Amino acid sequence: MSEKYLITSALPYVNNQLHIGHLIGCLLPSDVYARFCRARGRDVLYIGGSDEHGTTSEIGAARENMPVEEYVEKYRAKHLDVVRDFKLSFDHYGRTHTPQQEKLIHELFERLESQGMIEEKVSNQPYSVNEKKFLADRYVIGTCPRCGYDRAYGNECEKCGASLDPADLINPHSAIDPSSPVEMRETKHLYFKLSSVTDKLRAWVNSRTGWPKTATAIANKWLDEGLHDTPITRDLKWGIPVNKPGYEDKVFYVWFDAPWGYVSISQIATDDWASWWKNPDCHYTQFMGKDNVSFHAVFFPAQEIAVNDNWKTVDVLKALNFMNFNGAKISKSTGNGIFLDEALNIAPSDCWRYALLASAPETDDTDFTMTRFAEIVNKDLNGLLGNFVSRVCKLSNKNFGDTVPAGGATDEDLAHRINEKLAELTGCLDACEFRKSIIALRDIYGIANEYMTEKEPWALVKNGDTAGAAAVLNECFQLIDLFARVSAPIIPDAAEKIQNIFAGTHDLSWPTMYEHRIASGEKFTVPENLFTRIELNDAE
Ligand code: MF3
Ligand code: ZN
Repeated sequence: MSEKYLITSALPYVNNQLHIGHLIGCLLPSDVYARFCRARGRDVLYIGGSDEHGTTSEIGAARENMPVEEYVEKYRAKHLDVVRDFKLSFDHYGRTHTPQQEKLIHELFERLESQGMIEEKVSNQPYSVNEKKFLADRYVIGTCPRCGYDRAYGNECEKCGASLDPADLINPHSAIDPSSPVEMRETKHLYFKLSSVTDKLRAWVNSRTGWPKTATAIANKWLDEGLHDTPITRDLKWGIPVNKPGYEDKVFYVWFDAPWGYVSISQIATDDWASWWKNPDCHYTQFMGKDNVSFHAVFFPAQEIAVNDNWKTVDVLKALNFMNFNGAKISKSTGNGIFLDEALNIAPSDCWRYALLASAPETDDTDFTMTRFAEIVNKDLNGLLGNFVSRVCKLSNKNFGDTVPAGGATDEDLAHRINEKLAELTGCLDACEFRKSIIALRDIYGIANEYMTEKEPWALVKNGDTAGAAAVLNECFQLIDLFARVSAPIIPDAAEKIQNIFAGTHDLSWPTMYEHRIASGEKFTVPENLFTRIELNDAE
């Protein structure tokens, strides 16, 4: 039986158009890893979807003057286009507002409560008098008691940096309806006794390996500062209803339910979901931006451990830093960045996939520019990959017709050099080191180009060494076949085009060694150019 690999990509909120930061932050790395694992014959369940709950949806809907359901549907449709257009190979791209999710969360809550992990506490919370509802701290605005700034938030003053409590504000009012005064009123909430899981969680974190440094550091910082019991209910209408009498007008906190979306989406994806989620031998990798780490490294595993129901916890938590664009934060409101509905007007999906992975913010935040994009596409994809494929096919076609010319034994020196890089590439992908993977992949393209430059098959033809030229070109076709296999997880469209050059069927399984799979005499077609150069002024 093949090994089970569970792979999840953080579920983006459905309140805006996705941009290149979302793509490189989790969607793309997780897809490449899923494709790589499948190509190696692993039994993969790759899950993603929309995080539909939370205040971002409720507030966004109010701003666009729409029912929340409709608002969520509108943005989810845009996200689904991205999944399709950027060839993200999710087994299921689900959502969190489903009956399955509600059932799962209700069972989770009941079980936590029956194990004594839930506590009720009464506290004073800001209440908007006209809107007749409680507000999250940051939706309360008033005058800062320290510096007198009149647009301070209930949690902090952006002017003087004071950290505030909404009760501290002078003349507090609602940020959503500024005409509504805010007063402190008593309300009760349910708390998850996170503090009581501290020891188990620390042992669990210590037993994890292969996490990026940032991820481990964030987890340990939380543990060192001491875990506090945390409220899991909110005075909102939109979300999972709380299955406890007296809480009819509240919902669960979005982060109480969101990560369990991975489970409920898996349940919708396959009846066999438990063979991943309840299987201690399954290998589970999560992908996310660094702002999500505390929830995945502390809060979610704490729930999974506390509920004591044999849930699979994450093995490798792959957290990425942020990608900036032209030296500034990517943001819809400032218009800085590349949004995924426009990106494909500039270049096809494979170009973005390759260039973004080559720039993945793995050790630090990184800056992306159109100049960098054009350089990478032109040099690597158009130059090293596209031109090689095209030159080999054309030269061979001109001199030997539309079948692969007769070859001999594998060039041992070439095979040795390729195998070294192939091992490196395999290791990097296995370790989810994407930047390094791209370097190794580019080196493979480079070795093939050097081989052809050195052997000069065109000169052999000219000098009458037809058999010699045929042998070199045959070797080049074997390299092209290799290119399709090793490129497939990263640039799946190009890999498919390369695969289709040959009349025979050759799978795109992951190679362990460079091998000759293409028979002499096999028919081939000269493909259209795989890539087009990006001209800098166009790009800008
Ligand atoms: N919606 C969150 C964000 O966009 C991520 C949720 S990940 C999940 O930052 F695990 F909670 F689903
Ligand atoms: Zn202030």
